[in-house]
Amino acid sequence: MMTIQSRIRPNIQALTAYAPPWTGLDRTQYVRLDLNENTRALPPEIGPVLERLWAGGSASRYPEYRTFMPRLAHHLGVDEENLIITNGSDQGIEILLRAFLNPGDGMVVAQPEFPIFSHVAQVIGARVQGVPFDAEMNFPTQRFLDAIDHNTRLIVLINPNNPTGSVVPLETIREVLTRHPDLPVLLDEAYYEFTGVSCLRWMDEFKNLILVRTFSKAFAMAGLRLGYVVAQPEVIRELYKVRGPFDVNVVAVAVADAQLDLPHAWDYVNEVMTRGKPFTENALRELGIKFYPAAANFMLVQPEDRDALVGYMKQNGILVRPMVAPALVKTFRLTIAPLEEMRRFVAVLREYVGSGQ
Ligand SMILES: Cc1ncc(COP(=O)(O)O)c(C=O)c1O
Repeated sequence: MMTIQSRIRPNIQALTAYAPPWTGLDRTQYVRLDLNENTRALPPEIGPVLERLWAGGSASRYPEYRTFMPRLAHHLGVDEENLIITNGSDQGIEILLRAFLNPGDGMVVAQPEFPIFSHVAQVIGARVQGVPFDAEMNFPTQRFLDAIDHNTRLIVLINPNNPTGSVVPLETIREVLTRHPDLPVLLDEAYYEFTGVSCLRWMDEFKNLILVRTFSKAFAMAGLRLGYVVAQPEVIRELYKVRGPFDVNVVAVAVADAQLDLPHAWDYVNEVMTRGKPFTENALRELGIKFYPAAANFMLVQPEDRDALVGYMKQNGILVRPMVAPALVKTFRLTIAPLEEMRRFVAVLREYVGSGQ
C-alpha cells in the first residue's frame, strides 16, 4: 500500500522546508541582527489603537479592508484598483508566482536571491532561470538580459536584493521593462524605504510592472504580516482570485493604518542609514574586515573565519545570519540597526579581533 505522504507531489517531496536561522532559540534574549527586522518596538501610539480594537470586538469578526485600502492607495498615490494587500510580502510573491507560472515555465532571477522566490517556484514545478551575481555581488545586467528566453514567463528583479544588498540600476530595470512589454516584471521593493529609490512612478508608463512591498521592515511589522502588490487593475483583479478573502488580519490593518500618519518609520530609517550604517562600515574598514557595499539596512560581511566570529557574536548575545548559499558560505548577513545596537556589535567585534581568535 502507498503511504499517504508518498502521494504528495514529487517536486514537494524533493524540497526542504524553509527554516529561518536560529530556529528553536529564544531570540528575545539577543541583539537580533539576523533577520533584517526593525529592532524597535512599535511606537507607543499603537497601544490605544489595539485597545480600541479589542474593546470593539474586532478580533471576533472577519477582517474588513474598506477604510484601509483607499487610505493606503492615497498614501501611495495610486488608485485602489491598483492595489491588493497580502499576508506579508511573502504572500504577495506567492500569489504572483502561482498566478503567472505553470509547471515547467521559466522564472528569471539574479542569484543568490531572497529564497522564497525559488522555493515557491519549485513548489509550483516552475523552472528557475538563475543568473549569478558577479564575484563582488554586482547585478549581472547583460547576463540577466541574455537569460530571458522563449520559455520565460516571469522576470524577477529585487531592488535592493537580499541577502547581497545589490542594487539593480534603474536603467537596467527600464531596459527589461521596455524590451519585454509582454512579460510580467515583478519588482520586489521590500527595502525601498531605506534606499529612497522606487519605480512606483513608472506604473503608468509600463503596464508590465508589478511592485511588491512590505510593512515588515521600516514599519516594524514583521510579526504582524502585511505586504502589498501594486499593478495594473487587470492584474490585481486576477490576484484577488488567488488570495483568500481574509488573509490579512485585523491587527495588521489597524496598526498599518495608524502608522501611515506617524513619523516613526522614517525616523528609524534615518537613524539606521545616517548613523548606524556609516559607523559600522567605518569600523569594518578600520579592522580590515571585508564587507559587500549594500544599499539598505543589511550587508554581507566576510571575515577570515566566518563560523568562529558568528559563534563569538552569539556567545556575546548578538545574532547574525551565517549564509548557506554556496556562493556565500564565507559570509554572514548583518542587519544594520540604530547606533546603540551597532556600537554593541562593533565592541564585540573589536574584542574578537583583539583576542586574536
Ligand atoms: C527581498 C525581500 N522580499 C520580501 C521579503 C518578505 O518579507 P515579508 O513577508 O515579511 O513582507 C523579504 C524579507 O526578508 C525580503 O528580504
